[in-house]
Amino acid sequence: MSFLSNQGLEREFIENASVKLDDAEKLINISRQKNHQKILEIGTFVGVSTAVLGLCLPESKIVCVDADLPVELLNLLCVKQFEIKNKQTHLYFVEKVLKHFEFLTIFTLKRGFFSCGFPNQEDLDKVVNYGINLEDREIIGREVCEEYGPFDLAFLDADHRTEAVKQDLTLLSSYIKPEGTIILHDVGLDYWGQQVRQGVELFLKEHPQKKFNVEGEIGFIS
Ligand SMILES: C[S@@+](CC[C@H](N)C(=O)[O-])C[C@H]1O[C@@H](n2cnc3c(N)ncnc32)[C@H](O)[C@@H]1O
Repeated sequence: MSFLSNQGLEREFIENASVKLDDAEKLINISRQKNHQKILEIGTFVGVSTAVLGLCLPESKIVCVDADLPVELLNLLCVKQFEIKNKQTHLYFVEKVLKHFEFLTIFTLKRGFFSCGFPNQEDLDKVVNYGINLEDREIIGREVCEEYGPFDLAFLDADHRTEAVKQDLTLLSSYIKPEGTIILHDVGLDYWGQQVRQGVELFLKEHPQKKFNVEGEIGFIS
């Protein structure tokens, strides 16, 4: 966190969208329960959870997918506003963090959307008007999973809308090993938590053999 603050990102801005300390501890505990060799992270933001995964699973191969938008764009897309004037994108910071901890080599960073693109035309217009070329950000989930899967563990912390969560889980489930686990973030009782839980419920209706457990903001499907 302090490394990212030194890169010019306000601490509150980082914390607003990243795993908190107790979520990170749960992520570490679940990740360490088995020997996870191949891991997929969907939704890195600026690299906090990515660094947690790298620190607790240094023997793994970790593939990360993120839409990789400029950090200042968050002010256009979110209600909460931050003092942030920085055109660098998410994966720029993720790469810096991973170099800082000297474990970049275990990671593969992929720019793009996982299973679905922008939720609505309004957000899409904002992003295009900002100057983002969407041809550089395609839907790449299946291609990534075909190339690097199947995975022992996936950490899903990307688009929290119900439909997106259901779609991400549906795609992911074909590329998780039978004994593998999907960890989700933000499954609490607030607005986004409800959205994520509803996405999980829709997924579970089609996969009744799977079990869903919740510990605070962290949920896991196994
Ligand atoms: C809540 S943040 C992730 C926080 C990060 N896991 C952490 O704890 O440090 C959500 C991230 O998901 C990315 N994202 C949103 N929708 C996506 C999608 N459909 N595919 C891939 N990434 C997406 C955003 O660019 C953003 O960086």
